[in-house]
Amino acid sequence: MRFTAWQHEKDVTTISISEASQHENQPVELHGWLYNLRKSGKIVFPILRDGTGLMQCVAVKANLPEQVFESLKGATQESSLIVRGTVRKEPRAPGGYELDVTDAQIVQRVPEEHPYPITPKDHGVDFLMDHRHLWLRSRRQHAAIRVRHEIIRGIRDYFDSHGFTLVDTPIFTPAACEGTTTLFEVDYFDDEKVYLTQSGQLYNEANAMAFGKVYCFGPTFRAEKSKTRRHLTEFWMVEPEMAWADLEEVKRVAEELVVSLVQRVLENRKEELKTLERDTSKLEKVASPFPRMSYDEAVKILQSKGSEIQWGGDFGNTDETLLTQDFDRPVIVDRFPTEIKAFYFQTDPQRPEVALGVDFIAPEGYGEIIGGGQRIHDLALLETRLQEHNLPREAFEWYLDLRRFGSVPHGGFGMGVERFVAWMCGLEHVRETIPYPRMLYRTRP
Ligand code: 4AD
Ligand code: MG
Repeated sequence: MRFTAWQHEKDVTTISISEASQHENQPVELHGWLYNLRKSGKIVFPILRDGTGLMQCVAVKANLPEQVFESLKGATQESSLIVRGTVRKEPRAPGGYELDVTDAQIVQRVPEEHPYPITPKDHGVDFLMDHRHLWLRSRRQHAAIRVRHEIIRGIRDYFDSHGFTLVDTPIFTPAACEGTTTLFEVDYFDDEKVYLTQSGQLYNEANAMAFGKVYCFGPTFRAEKSKTRRHLTEFWMVEPEMAWADLEEVKRVAEELVVSLVQRVLENRKEELKTLERDTSKLEKVASPFPRMSYDEAVKILQSKGSEIQWGGDFGNTDETLLTQDFDRPVIVDRFPTEIKAFYFQTDPQRPEVALGVDFIAPEGYGEIIGGGQRIHDLALLETRLQEHNLPREAFEWYLDLRRFGSVPHGGFGMGVERFVAWMCGLEHVRETIPYPRMLYRTRP
């Protein structure tokens, strides 16, 4: 590799492809990988990708040393290379610019006998998932991960600019938050068992009593044996929690967050959405106010649409899709049966059989993207619930303390990043929304 030798020559500016427009008619150096190569007699057109974009290069035999032209001509897919040339405006080219090549060197040539495994032909999804470490270089995958990044930035910006403090919550936890059936157990030291966190919520509640408005944002784990297009065993969740907030306030903040994120993706990720062939007219309709309904009403609507759901049952994937069918934005459903909800929900003072919980169900069949609600602030009620749910009291003593020392009504929610990204990108399956998905039958690469 001659890479180091070239690096020391500083006579030509190294730019990324996304910066090409600022260097029109100037000599530049690009570092990248060979995305594609077209040959036409005495000219070759290597398309270079560098992670920020694609650049079609034009290498004319007559203008180049023999050895440079031949090496470009023989370059193989995904070989790494450095190219020098002059940026020229070309409205028909992918990014609007082309590079007239003056010099080039291959840094590592992918050998013919062991070619890059992902070719333009159709591969099965298992093959692509096995090559996820390489598949991320493909245009659609690359676009989806850039949209993910935009959403993560948007989430942080939203909370950071609305008075929330980021307070991280632990990943090793001594107790369940979202039910004991989906816990991953880990051997800790000296025979102690701990679990991978299902949600930072319980700690968020403590943090909200210390800081007022907080959020945590990290990976969460669910040993879900469900093999659906919406479930991962490891997923990223942002969870805000607010002291003095009731169910209505939780809904207001969640709606505002969703609207701000959709707008941000539409504004900043146009190219990526185009690559993904996302119908953006659908996303443009996502504005306040979102339709609101109670669980009771939702059950009636579902029954009228032919669902077999009875009051007291949980929505299945088909129910969620049916429910949002007539709407062009997420549907907010609240006041679920206490029985089917986690132990920590405050109940409706007029109707203890319903919990002050809320779900946001995305349109176009993307399902539940947000779950949250108002938490129990009453010590006696919380003690009863822990018992009813057979949860080990000693592991929750600290959580009970929050009801002993200045308890206040409070609430928050959790939004799964991957489901949100799937919705924005119009992707069938959440496995393409995270760089390295972890699912029931997939833990590698
Ligand atoms: O509804 P969930 O289970 O709520 C909680 O964990 C609360 N403790 C959050 C809170 O109030 N602080 O999960 C919240 C969201 C879901 O709406 C969904 O978007 C996502 O997390 N989610 C998953 N995403 C991918 N794979 C899974 N297995 C998921 N389970 C939940
Ligand atoms: Mg939920």
